[in-house]
Amino acid sequence: MIYTIVGGGSTFTPGIVKSIALRKDELEVEEIRLFDLDRERQDKVAVVVKWILDEELDSGIRLTVTYDEESAYRDADFVFAQMRVGKYALREMDEKIPLRHGCVGQETCGCGGLAYGMRTIFPMIKVLDDVAKYAKPGHWILNYSNPASIVSEACRMLRPDARIINICDMPIAIIDVVAAALEIKDKENIVYDYYGLNHFGWFTGIEYRGEDIMPRLRDYIMEHKILLPDAYLKDKIALGAGTSDTHRNRHAKGSWYYVWKGIYEIMSNFPDTLPNTYLNYYLQQKEFVEHSDVERTRANEVMETREKNLFDGIDKYLRTGVVDENVFYAGSHGDWIADLAVALKNDTKARFLVITENRGAIPNMPYDAMVEVPAYIGKKGPEVIAQNKIPLFQQGLMMQQLNSEKLLVEGCIEGSYQKVLEAFTLNKTVPSMNVAKAILDDMIEANEGYWPELR
Ligand code: NAD
Ligand code: G6P
Ligand code: MN
Repeated sequence: MIYTIVGGGSTFTPGIVKSIALRKDELEVEEIRLFDLDRERQDKVAVVVKWILDEELDSGIRLTVTYDEESAYRDADFVFAQMRVGKYALREMDEKIPLRHGCVGQETCGCGGLAYGMRTIFPMIKVLDDVAKYAKPGHWILNYSNPASIVSEACRMLRPDARIINICDMPIAIIDVVAAALEIKDKENIVYDYYGLNHFGWFTGIEYRGEDIMPRLRDYIMEHKILLPDAYLKDKIALGAGTSDTHRNRHAKGSWYYVWKGIYEIMSNFPDTLPNTYLNYYLQQKEFVEHSDVERTRANEVMETREKNLFDGIDKYLRTGVVDENVFYAGSHGDWIADLAVALKNDTKARFLVITENRGAIPNMPYDAMVEVPAYIGKKGPEVIAQNKIPLFQQGLMMQQLNSEKLLVEGCIEGSYQKVLEAFTLNKTVPSMNVAKAILDDMIEANEGYWPELR
């Protein structure tokens, strides 16, 4: 079978390829194709991908590196998407422009996420159309490209029949951290209940081998005043990190450190559920702005660490023939998407969190909301597990965020300045209409050539 990766030049490509190759029998992998618009970047990443397939794993899998849609998708069975439209240069703007106006600057949350959504909607629709044209009729597109909730809403609106499943690795990363905190080695025996929007949800129950571990977890978090155990930071696999300080787990410092600390702060007030890390940006927006440095945001951290380590590592390999596998990220992120493909292909009915149209799964959310909930995955796609009615606090927060994102998608499609301004104004991270307008106008300038024209 043929597996195509769109955004082949991504820093996550080597890790995903490794996860696919490690499942080559279950996935019947014959060929992996990389497709990216940035030829130079993809060619570099392909060097390490080839090393993984041929040298490290001796996989026998054929690698094809392509730059045009037809050869990327022709007869493909699975398409894994992970493109970053505008790359890190515009991620930096997504983060810095709102901060300049005193608001949360984050790549997927608040105004930054809305701006990134405006850039990504139409390129994603193009992927759907190209894949529908060339790939096998029963293909699946598994999408990681952010901002996943806006992308998924646009796909729902514009291409309701597309064979796409949008996913996120954050909940599974949180479960990795929970397992490390509670010293659970066999994390596959953890089962959890969760609901929300993407990057905007709550774990309502976590069980390990039948035991409700929420009370133990709560005690751990209250005692340590953070959810970031040493065991997780030291786990080389979970980090894909490695030896020197610059390769350390990305979660150990900078912006990520605050969100793990924020879990403690949120649970001190609202102890019943374990919040997604991203809720910090909406519940502690003022504090986030206070500890941010407008000159140096997460985009800078990523460029100086994950991106630099990968490309320096590839250059070193080309010079010396030696690969330090610690320069690329492997682990849960790749395993999650590859395991999802296994479930779809082999009809396993394994349980995954997916971003999907609500259709009554959360009774007091709109029918057409794109929500993130557990589902059993088989060859026909997700069978969503129905939820109970959710409390007013969470429902109110979710409705505000949902409507902000829906207005953004509608505004993008219609080219409506007013709707996009409403989306920015409605977002919980923005304190006033005038601030929303100032951020939006700066964003229009920064995104020239990427955003549709707004009238
Ligand atoms: P990156 O910049 O290293 O890689 C993205 C690649 O996409 C680049 O090589 C770029 O040239 C390419 N690209 C941009 N527009 C494209 C297009 N229209 N067609 C084909 N390729 C295109 O970024 P990264 O940090 O490795 O992240 C990759 C993506 O994965 C981002 O969207 C990121 O937000 C997302 N991501 C999502 C999750 C999740 O939980 N959903 C987790 C991790 C990463
Ligand atoms: C988590 C989220 C992703 C996001 C990523 C950013 O994995 O689930 O949606 O893209 O974090 O990580 P970074 O290291 O690029 O800040
Ligand atoms: Mn995510």
